[in-house]
Amino acid sequence: MTTSHTRSAELFARAAAIVPAGVSSNTRSRQPHPLYFSRVEGAYAIDIDGNRHLDLTMGNGAIMLGHGYPPVQEAVSRALAAGLTCGVESAAMVDAAEAFMSAVKWPDMVRFTNTGTEAVQHALHVARHATGRTRIAKVEGSYHGWSDEVFVSVWSDLSQAGTPDAIVPLPQFAGQRRDLVDQVVVVPFNDIERTLSVLDEVGGDLAALLLEPVMIDIGFIPATTDYLKALRTAADRHGFVLIYDELLTGFNLAPGGVADSCGVAPDLALYGKAIANGYPIAAMAGREDLMRMTEPGKGPAFVGTFNGHGVSVAAAAAVLPILAKGEVQQTLAARGQRLAGSFSAAAADTGVAARLVTGGSHIHWYFLTGDVTDYRSAARTDAAAYAAFTGALGARDILYLPNPLSHHAISLAHEDAVLDEIETAFVAALGATARH
Ligand SMILES: Cc1ncc(COP(=O)(O)O)c(C=O)c1O
Repeated sequence: MTTSHTRSAELFARAAAIVPAGVSSNTRSRQPHPLYFSRVEGAYAIDIDGNRHLDLTMGNGAIMLGHGYPPVQEAVSRALAAGLTCGVESAAMVDAAEAFMSAVKWPDMVRFTNTGTEAVQHALHVARHATGRTRIAKVEGSYHGWSDEVFVSVWSDLSQAGTPDAIVPLPQFAGQRRDLVDQVVVVPFNDIERTLSVLDEVGGDLAALLLEPVMIDIGFIPATTDYLKALRTAADRHGFVLIYDELLTGFNLAPGGVADSCGVAPDLALYGKAIANGYPIAAMAGREDLMRMTEPGKGPAFVGTFNGHGVSVAAAAAVLPILAKGEVQQTLAARGQRLAGSFSAAAADTGVAARLVTGGSHIHWYFLTGDVTDYRSAARTDAAAYAAFTGALGARDILYLPNPLSHHAISLAHEDAVLDEIETAFVAALGATARH
């Protein structure tokens, strides 16, 4: 149990004067102040006051093998000892690319950048270059980074968002370029009829349709295979580029991600997170004709000071062969199922309408009844129940995300004893939710 947060409070007082919200990413902002950490190990993070927290955020799903996984740390140490940082290519980049290509079957080529936000921008550049068109379509409720043109209709206020037949593209922050937002076509996830009726109308103007094939950023909502097939057919009919954002699914749900496992290949896809167990790297993969458009002088720029960073590619070259075997994914899927089962039993015992959704290393909780198939059905989750539940987890020093439409994760380090601890906390937190 938490003893004291004195040093975190002191650090926040120093940081808040010079760093907005005292944190580097707004998702880490907390009331009355964020926590600052000195060390992480396995499934735990130790804050600056020495409190040990069970981590259910795991780097927003990036740290699938657990904090400080030894083979990755050793590869990183070797890169550090060799002084490899940025500005030159390394053998590890080629190793990582080969490991990627031998695990992911559908694409012809891969290229590394730093973040998911950047990878998405590259894919949109390629799509526009290939089609000569500018507009893009995306799914309501899916997050693809914070750039002006895709941070659209992510956590939409449904009172402003129109009907499922005519979804209004909404900006996510003040100061976002309205001209770009208004150009975005927003379609409902898993709704073939409504999506096709929109695509049949505007498909000829679209450069790309971008989607997460499992919407993990708002919990865990798989696309039906029929939905993906319908999008593939529409892309071919109207000549736009189909892009899967596999930042959370790639290597996490299965080595080749959804593109391989569902049998409906996109034209381009984006990867990151799990591919380097927490080190900053992302990738774009795809069809050769599209990928080669990013070669010098041919089309969109593909440049970046930190692209192919020596430390990150060393981490990726160590991680990808491990994840390529598929065993980690199976182990984590079984652990997720165990948590889903015990959560359901505890929810039934306490009379709380809730479920745990899971796949790969991902877990999340919805507080609702009925099916969850898209953003609008997920947005019915009871925010007050979520706050009561996660507040009780926080009181037991479990790290969580305050947004009811977000996602949590376990890792290879969340072994049986850790799962026992999580289950005990879930029972107590569901009890607190019931009393709320
Ligand atoms: C599905 C998805 N796409 C894109 C991004 C953006 O990636 P990054 O935070 O590396 O810019 C994220 C990050 O949370 C994501 O989950």
